[in-house]
Amino acid sequence: MHREPSRRLGHTIHAFGTVDSTQAEASRLAAVGAPEGTVVMASHQTAGRGRRGRQWLDAEGENLLMSVVLRPPVPPEQAPQLSLVGSVAMVDALRASAGLRASIRWPNDVMMGERKICGMLPEATTSAPGALGHLVLGIGLNVNQAAFPEPVRALATSVRLETGRESDVGEMMESVLAALDRWYTRFLAAGIDGVREAWLERSQSIGRRARAGAGREGVAVDLARDGALLLRTDIGETLRIVAGDVTMEAADAARH
Ligand code: BTN
Repeated sequence: MHREPSRRLGHTIHAFGTVDSTQAEASRLAAVGAPEGTVVMASHQTAGRGRRGRQWLDAEGENLLMSVVLRPPVPPEQAPQLSLVGSVAMVDALRASAGLRASIRWPNDVMMGERKICGMLPEATTSAPGALGHLVLGIGLNVNQAAFPEPVRALATSVRLETGRESDVGEMMESVLAALDRWYTRFLAAGIDGVREAWLERSQSIGRRARAGAGREGVAVDLARDGALLLRTDIGETLRIVAGDVTMEAADAARH
């Protein structure tokens, strides 16, 4: 599908029924020169990829499964910042298209309270040492799925479960692309400084007690410019959490 090139993102959309993974398909297209802003979407994935090597399962035709090819002129170590950009955009898109007030759980899960409604997966390739080739930003938004299998049943939600009504997945994608276009443009102009405040405003992680394993525990106090979560330990040290799973306790537990 070709659309007016009025925006940086979404000028070309490759829409599939079933694919292995929109990430894999978008990476294949990017490797043969697909321009920035190319989008791959599908109604079902047979090998959907989640963070940290996990699977991303979907109910056919019910959710938004999309990957966007980005070519930001930044070094590879800044690639994770793009998922912060994506999560800020997703909060705005859910507000604009469904009236939902979502928040971000570090680094880029989009949440309705304690339930995840959207996951993001930034996958970067390097073209030469120190140079980012392209980055594929994968977005999995639960739109019309009304029930989730174990083990995610208690941890997941969807736009439909939150609003009580079905939404058009294509319209949802348009809203996501419009918000992503805005925030990505801001990122290109100002770097992470153009997005960090917005991330902090939309975050549910700051102020909460967090555990990152191996005794790494404290209250989340800030987002570093490189995207690391900063924890203040009980003895006043600052810990940088750069990757991995973080367990958050309830908001008021941070004060005990
Ligand atoms: C996460 O684990 O939170 C990230 C999930 C990302 C899932 C999306 S669905 C569309 C795109 N294609 C994939 O295979 N994964 C991403």
